Amino acid sequence: MDKIRITGGVPLSGRIEISGAKNAALPAMAASLLTADTVRLENVPYVRDILTTRTLLQEMGAEAEVLPDGTATLNSAQLRSYQAPYELVKTMRAAILVLGPLLARSRKARVSLPGGCAIGARPVNLHIMGLERMGASCRIKHGYIEADTEGLRGAYILLDTVTVTGTENLMMAATLAEGETVIDNAACEPEISDLAFMLRRMGAQIEGEGTRTIRIRGVKELHGCTHSIIPDRIEAGTFAVAAAITRGDVEVVNCRPSHLAAVLDQLSQTGADISIGATGFRIRGRDQIISRSITTNPYPAFPTDMQAQYMALMTQGNGSAVITENIFENRFMHALEMIRMGAEITIDGRQAVVKGGKPLSGAKVLASDLRASASLILAGLVANGDTWVDRVYHLDRGYARIEEKLARLGARIERFAD
Ligand code: EPZ
Repeated sequence: MDKIRITGGVPLSGRIEISGAKNAALPAMAASLLTADTVRLENVPYVRDILTTRTLLQEMGAEAEVLPDGTATLNSAQLRSYQAPYELVKTMRAAILVLGPLLARSRKARVSLPGGCAIGARPVNLHIMGLERMGASCRIKHGYIEADTEGLRGAYILLDTVTVTGTENLMMAATLAEGETVIDNAACEPEISDLAFMLRRMGAQIEGEGTRTIRIRGVKELHGCTHSIIPDRIEAGTFAVAAAITRGDVEVVNCRPSHLAAVLDQLSQTGADISIGATGFRIRGRDQIISRSITTNPYPAFPTDMQAQYMALMTQGNGSAVITENIFENRFMHALEMIRMGAEITIDGRQAVVKGGKPLSGAKVLASDLRASASLILAGLVANGDTWVDRVYHLDRGYARIEEKLARLGARIERFAD
């Protein structure tokens, strides 16, 4: 397993280009199952989860090519399998996103239950509830969701919890259902809107994306399209924290600042100097980092996927900050590793109190999930001495060559293949 060594103390400076959003590219790849035509995607990040999804589609019989230049060409005219096997789903829970499209296109699917992960139980009951509302029959057998339908029908679906991939699965399924589907209490993340934009390009009739109520009128079939994936707001936020925590001066380009407004606003409140443009922003860290509390909530509030990165910043704050994690029940694993670096953090259920002002010292630390590994690299950038982050395969799932990008900003960071 690869390791990454970071030697702290360098203020980052320079310009960083943001890659396409993993969490927009994953549903977009799944959406290619909805048509027998070819779908071309651009600005696809070349990360592990994308390659895993490519393999999944290929194993179903689809043609799926993903290139390092960000292009993906997908065609599922000749599907020979309708299942997402456990061996694959256990490495990437987002494989659940093929469930809705397979039911809509092929009227059957057999998808392994994703199971939990480091950050929480991650149930998919709302995905199943919505599909059953639309006329699918779903059975749980031997750890798999076995689903089939005589044909999906439009339905009114109220999601009692805001679920991103749940909204995406149901939106995709509804595009080919007979009649109108209303998804209430839908997720509003930019990735939902990007998927809706792509589906409309394929001939779907969708309105209301980006609001809590999405209406989809089913059509007989969808055709192919070419679609460019939105920039990754979480990668952009991660680099913004890297600039703030190292007291650097970084220009983040090829992103949509409006997609991370809550993050940039919060970083401004901690004292960072941020100037925002149409396709990027400049962030300058200040010597004094002001401790400010946050609560994670569904978009457009502060995103859970930036909580770990923000905690790293708060270890350098001038006081105490309370971090409340409202989305996942176990998303403070990174705190335990930061404590080993000298941070003062106390955890009480969904709240972590971060007492700043303690210098961090480099240590050997363990990544537990995608964003936790990013937060440990951020902590290493400001720690005295060397920090070794192990199990960086978590990082590779969602960040394309992060160590190269940080090194270009002056960070003393190096990957070691184990
Ligand atoms: C998506 O996960 C993202 N993944 C996650 O990013 C992100 O953290 C999460 O949304 C929240 O923003 C992808 O888009 C591939 P949820 P998802 O369904 O859809 C509960 C990363 O780092 N829930 O929005 O799986 C659930 O337990 C990853 O890139 C149900 O109860 O998350 C959680 O408390 C990590 N029943 C809440 O909803 C369901 O059927 C939000 O989960 C579904 C979800």
